[in-house]
Amino acid sequence: MPHTFIIFGASGDLTSRKLIPALFRLHCKGRLPRDTQVVGFSRTEFSDVAWREELAGSTREFLGDEFDEQAFRQFAESIYYQPGDLSSVDDVRRLKERLDGMEDGAGCTRVFYLATAPRFYEPAVAHLGETGLADETCGPVRVVIEKPFGVDLASARALNRAVHEVFAEMQIYRIDHYLGKETVQNLLVLRFANSIFEPIWNRNYVDHVQITVAEEVKVGKRAGYYDSSGILRDMFQNHLLQLLMITAMEAPSRYEADRVRDEKVKVLQAVRRLERDDVATDTLRGFYRGYRDERGVADDSTTATFAAVKLAVDNWRWQGVPFYLRSGKAMSCRTTQIVIQFREPPHMLFGSGHRGPLDANRLVIQIQPAEGIQLHFQTKVPDAGMQLRLTDLDFRFQEEFKATLPDAYQRLLLDAMQGDASLFARADEVELAWSIVDPILAAWEQLGRQGLHEYEPSLWGPVESSAWIERDGRLWFDSCPVLH
Ligand code: BG6
Repeated sequence: MPHTFIIFGASGDLTSRKLIPALFRLHCKGRLPRDTQVVGFSRTEFSDVAWREELAGSTREFLGDEFDEQAFRQFAESIYYQPGDLSSVDDVRRLKERLDGMEDGAGCTRVFYLATAPRFYEPAVAHLGETGLADETCGPVRVVIEKPFGVDLASARALNRAVHEVFAEMQIYRIDHYLGKETVQNLLVLRFANSIFEPIWNRNYVDHVQITVAEEVKVGKRAGYYDSSGILRDMFQNHLLQLLMITAMEAPSRYEADRVRDEKVKVLQAVRRLERDDVATDTLRGFYRGYRDERGVADDSTTATFAAVKLAVDNWRWQGVPFYLRSGKAMSCRTTQIVIQFREPPHMLFGSGHRGPLDANRLVIQIQPAEGIQLHFQTKVPDAGMQLRLTDLDFRFQEEFKATLPDAYQRLLLDAMQGDASLFARADEVELAWSIVDPILAAWEQLGRQGLHEYEPSLWGPVESSAWIERDGRLWFDSCPVLH
């Protein structure tokens, strides 16, 4: 059955930087379903030919040497453009006529991708319903919704309600591009396709877990959006909580969308909500020096560009094991890593030197860059009595597989076309994530500038964050990946 991939917000940044390059790479690998057509829809006036030219330019720029002119020309023959305003039902109706004409009465899978500003999500979905475009009589219809999915629990619920009026949950694909990363999926494989990790993946052996998403970049051109969003909405509600869920979940009985998501949801249900008083002690926030001078940021902004949050997962596996989550802009390097810090041996035989909290075993899951896994363990230093040193077993994807890892969007777009929602967030998952973040946001708002630390760019966030974790007798694993 042919596939039509319709992009709302076709003239935007996401389309040119992510969606079209991902579709093009899939085309080059021969992975796109046969007879896939791409239709762009947005207000800017383009003819089909002009849009193809525009996309050739942006994709060439984005892919650099990897860009193959001839392959793109061939791919572009299946790209079309329909100018229109999403808030006009007549324009959406015209889109329907165009799609019906293109598909010529044959059955077709249609995937609508909302790559627009979030304020258009509701009208877009309503108009898809009103014009009959959500109707599945001729073939499956799916809608892919980008983040942010709401700005708090109330708005996420309202959006879920609005979308459910038109689409059934199984037609809805809420994207979190972290789930499309190979290394995030590999965490499922590491845990559930090996038998040696699972027995120790619990409170009996794990002291704590650290999940860090550090970015070197500042907010740049997105300052306006960022100032109204901040680090919790931008990174925690979605990406960090996704990493937490995959680290902490139980094995599903089968690798199927709802079974996987049922287990993830149980983790969020078990996360202890922070009370207002906990927020002062269990979270730490800051902004980088110079943030308030960024264009689009209010002079009196209290938006955080860094946060560290300590969460407890109240279930049998994780009782008493804190999960430290942190993320920030303008940090010392770009790294996303999950550190499983194991307990100290119960009795040390080789006890001469000083032992610190980072001397115990740990498993570092390096999500990006230098994607891989390192297992740290103590070794005897040769010819030095019983002196010990922490060394590691180092697995790198690039060395092992000699291939560049695909961008997350390739996997996710293909899954949406093929109807596999395993790597997409379900309605309850998104709402539960907001219910964890909302109390923190509310408490921060009340606290205003109190407890909001300024930090020097190119460090690991506010200096106070070291003392914050040391209070618990622990240390951050501040390590930048070594790129070979
Ligand atoms: C986006 C956030 O969702 O994720 C950005 O809005 C952030 O602020 C980006 O930079 C990080 O994604 P990645 O894949 O580069 O880690």
